[in-house]
Order: sequence, then C-alpha cells, then structure tokens
Amino acid sequence: MQIILGITGGVAAYKSAELARLLANQGHRVRCILTEAGARFITPLTLTSLTGEPCYGANPDQGEWRANPSIEHIELARWADLVAVVPATANILGKAANGLASDLLSTVLLATRAPVLWAPAMNTGMWEHPAVQANLVRLRSFGHAVVDPGEGVLACGEEGSGKLAEVAAIAEAIQVHGTPKLMSLSGRRVLITAGPTREDLDPVRTLTNRSTGTMGIELARAFRDVGAQVQLVLGGELPAPWGVETIRVRSAQQMLEASEACWVGADGLVAAAAVADQRPESSASQKMKKVEGAESLVLVRTPDILARLCAARRPDQWVLGFAAESEKHLEHASEKLKKKGLDAVLVNDVQGGRAFGAQANTLTPITAQGPHPPLGPLAKDQLARAVVQWWAGHLAGRPA
Ligand SMILES: Cc1cc2nc3c(=O)[nH]c(=O)nc-3n(C[C@H](O)[C@H](O)[C@H](O)COP(=O)(O)O)c2cc1C
Repeated sequence: MQIILGITGGVAAYKSAELARLLANQGHRVRCILTEAGARFITPLTLTSLTGEPCYGANPDQGEWRANPSIEHIELARWADLVAVVPATANILGKAANGLASDLLSTVLLATRAPVLWAPAMNTGMWEHPAVQANLVRLRSFGHAVVDPGEGVLACGEEGSGKLAEVAAIAEAIQVHGTPKLMSLSGRRVLITAGPTREDLDPVRTLTNRSTGTMGIELARAFRDVGAQVQLVLGGELPAPWGVETIRVRSAQQMLEASEACWVGADGLVAAAAVADQRPESSASQKMKKVEGAESLVLVRTPDILARLCAARRPDQWVLGFAAESEKHLEHASEKLKKKGLDAVLVNDVQGGRAFGAQANTLTPITAQGPHPPLGPLAKDQLARAVVQWWAGHLAGRPA
C-alpha cells in the first residue's frame, strides 16, 4: 500500500516514527507530512531515514513541497492508497471536519479520494469536549475510520482517556481500512479454527503438536481485511489478532464446543487448526509420580471437529479444509475432500518440518475439479491473502 502518514502537533508524535518504521517493514511505502506544530515534536530526518521516502513540510517553503507547489498536494492525494493521521490533534480534526485546507496535510485530506484514518491523542478535557466529539461524528459520516485513544497517564500529567492507541493496533487498523473489500466475502461471517489443541495428562504434562497457529491467525486477518466478520477459535499461545472476535480454547473438545456454537450463524468455515487426534484416556488431577521402567499410555480418539461441523452443515455454508501431508499430498488431500464433502482442501507439505512454525509456505488448493496452481512459496501473511483472493474468486464464480 502507498500510505501518507500525517503527523500533527502532539507529544505522541514521537510514536509516529515507530509506526512509520513498522509500516515500512511490512512492505508499505510511507510518505510523511508534518504540520508546522508536528515538526516541533519530530524531525523530517528521522522520518525519511526510517521510510526511505521524502517527508513533506507544512508549507511550500518547507521540506519537499517545492518543485510545483500548485499541484504537489494533488499528486500526493492521488498517490495515496490511504491517508492516516497519527497522532491527530483536536485542531486537525476540527479543520478536516469543516473542510478547511490551510496547509499541505489539510489540503491533501480534502483532495484525496483514498480512505482516511485518524488516531487522535490529546488531553482528556479536550477529548471529551462536545466540539471534538461532534467533529469525530462528522468525520465518521464521511466514511473515515477512527482508532479511539485509550486511557492512561497523559503527557500533561492527567490520567484519563486521550492517550494515543497502541502503535501495533493502529497498524492493524490501517491494514483493515486500506484493503479493498471483496463482494463475495464482505459482511459474511467466517468461522476459522486455528492453532494446536492440548490434551492434558496431568496438571503439568500435555500432549500437543508443533503447530503454532500462525497460518490460521494470518487467515483471520486476511478475511477480516476484505470485510468478512471473522470468529476465530484459537488454540496455542499466540496473541489474538486485533479486530477479530477470538474464542480461546485448549482441548479438542473445547474447540468442538466453541466451533459448534459459532457454526450455526456462519456462512463459511476455514478449518486451519491442528487438532490432536488422540487424548489420554484419563487426565490425572495431581502430577503423576515417575515410576521405574517402561510405562504405557492409553490414548482414545478426540472428536473429529471437521466431520462434526460438516455433518451439521446447511447447503448454503461453505467449508475449506487443510491437509498437512508428509507424503502423497494430492492423493491424501483428494480423499479428505471427498470423504468429508469439503468445497476445497489446501494442502501443505510438512515433510522435514516444513509448514509448522516456518516463515514461508506453499499451499495447493484442491477442489472437485482437481488440483489448482499452487499458491506460494510466500510468507504466511501474504499466503493468507493469496488464499482469500483465490477463494473469493472461486465463490464469485459459484452459482448462488
Ligand atoms: C507541548 C505541547 C503538547 C501538545 N499536545 C497536544 C496533543 O496531544 N493533542 C492536541 O490536540 N494538541 C496538542 N497541543 C496543541 C497543538 O500543538 C496545537 O493545537 C497546534 O495548533 C496543532 O496544530 P496542527 O494540528 O496543525 O499540528 C500541544 C501543544 C504543545 C505546545
């Protein structure tokens, strides 16, 4: 994405440098525009160094707004896929809500047709003032997104609301607001299962597998970004993605119960969890003492979550499964597709530790028509986006 990052005159301006670096590391192109007050808090040199792009000042005689001042604001407005103002002062919110264009940033905000996102930060009294709140209502009515500030101790020493939201959350909101929505998925409810399940032997020992849940979490983000309402049933230790309703589970039984509850209201299922096939027949309530010599463990089957959800499936619901195979990938995945009646299976090759915990991966989609061209190798976030695009295309071509 090509992002314009507007930085206005608040103490939180130093955090915009961290945001600029995070966005640039995620592969976005970031051009900063400082207001006159913003430039008192952070320097253009810091921002150009972090982004590798020019940083623009408030007026034609500052920074890069030099060569052709009559059109530069329009070029920047057109260049942007998204304009984010972080931090946003009460002043810039008031200007933008009322269509004022007195410097480069406010002019670009008025000229652009790109999505606009605000991350306000200010003293609690300012934040709660009816004028500021009325301006935010107006900006939201233009389709702008607002990442509300949190609570905490503010730079002015007061404690209350008005503290800039976390940088990571702002970056996620930029991703969501800047991604074009897909007709076939926008507003649709998608249930995603992700991560490993754990089956306890006793209070300290557990049976699990090497899945981290990364791929499922990236799929949740990718479906969220194109407009789907995602419910994520998540095992493992990784943090839940921002803006996604997440239900934390531990065992296969818990994952089944949470998934069944969500499935009733869902349009589609992405079963990306690595569910343990077996669990110990019994789980001790106290730590088991070690004994000398060989021991045996009786394992019983856990519920087949995918089979149970497929059995309760309505004709209008779709199901995507995953298959992690170490040999005869396509053959085994085609069997799974038929046996469980899935719409598609995405196969990954887990031989030699590939896929689990790895950064890059390849997935081959299989449908009733046979195998499709492989997606990847790609980093898991990009691979998730490729899966969503592929599936949205497939859904768009399906008879309703
Ligand atoms: C030290 C200092 C800190 C400030 N912090 C904030 C702030 O966090 N939020 C805010 O809305 N205004 C803050 N202001 C006031 C703005 O800088 C002032 O309204 C300015 O005109 C904003 O201009 P701009 O919106 O063009 O950047 C602060 C001012 C000073 C001197």
